[in-house]
Amino acid sequence: MSIISTSAPGKAILFGEHAVVYGYPAIAVPVMQVSATVQISSVDNQPDGWIWLSALDIGVNSPSTKLPLDHPLILPIKLVPDELGIKNLPAMRIDIHSTIPVAAGLGSGAAVSVALIRAIAEFLGQPLSDDRVSTLAFSVEKIYHGTPSGIDNSVITYSKPIYFIRGEQPSGNRITRIGVGKTLNLVIGDTGIPSPTAATVGDVRQTWLAHPEIYNSLFTRIGELVKQARVALERGESELLGVLANENHALLTEIGVSCAELDRLVDAARASGAFGAKLSGGGRGGNMIALVPKEKVSKVVQALTSAGAVHAIACQVDGGNPEQRIK
Ligand code: PMV
Repeated sequence: MSIISTSAPGKAILFGEHAVVYGYPAIAVPVMQVSATVQISSVDNQPDGWIWLSALDIGVNSPSTKLPLDHPLILPIKLVPDELGIKNLPAMRIDIHSTIPVAAGLGSGAAVSVALIRAIAEFLGQPLSDDRVSTLAFSVEKIYHGTPSGIDNSVITYSKPIYFIRGEQPSGNRITRIGVGKTLNLVIGDTGIPSPTAATVGDVRQTWLAHPEIYNSLFTRIGELVKQARVALERGESELLGVLANENHALLTEIGVSCAELDRLVDAARASGAFGAKLSGGGRGGNMIALVPKEKVSKVVQALTSAGAVHAIACQVDGGNPEQRIK
């Protein structure tokens, strides 16, 4: 019996969400403390094409034929063999587990897609390059997000801090792995409010269409700020990153994607010693992140929990990575 195991981390957007959809740069980091894992084992006593899918965290435990064809777990099972030109799939059992909170802006869907795409390709004996994994994961992301920028599948596939600029097509994305001058301590606080990214991205698009000058100017200011943040990140200037995070949050609030619960967590993080804090991801719920001095991490975690966060995850983004163009 053959068994394949793969995993993929969570992610957080540090700077530039929403503006990134319109071609401005954004910075995202992997969150290695949480992950999605996929195990595929061959099944001897079933015919070709038989697939049992178990993802107990989201209540799936059935033959794959019981799920709709556009289900985000089914799409990779179709996309990968198509990509590899393989027609007959051997019988298999797929087990998916994730410690990434769902619908919380930590990239749970993209991480499952990346791990699943890698696992199927490896199980079929033809591992895919990161570039192809990311492109296929992007096709699945469209189900979750409608018009995603592609930053989630990219940072999760490469599992490194990235500076991301969206292209017209996924093949046109510009992705640079960025150096981190000094270990960055982050605390990620989850409001517990599910907020589908497709809805916030769609609302922002409607308002952008109605008020293009105002929104283009907000996106431009976010883009400028992301460029400054990249330099600060490379130089290890954590305090400056905090200031920029605060500014980015103010601009996201003007765009209309913050909410009272996010603001409460952002304020609690700042009041308990964070360098700065902002919402992260789609907004109107989901997550915020705080950039925190090392000695204040547990204080900020406590403050976020007291202010109503359902999860507060402390994580580190390590320094020392060289700058390198990935794509
Ligand atoms: O909700 P998240 O964490 O997946 O982030 C969405 C980020 C947006 O910029 C709002 C959308 C996108 O596709 O980049």
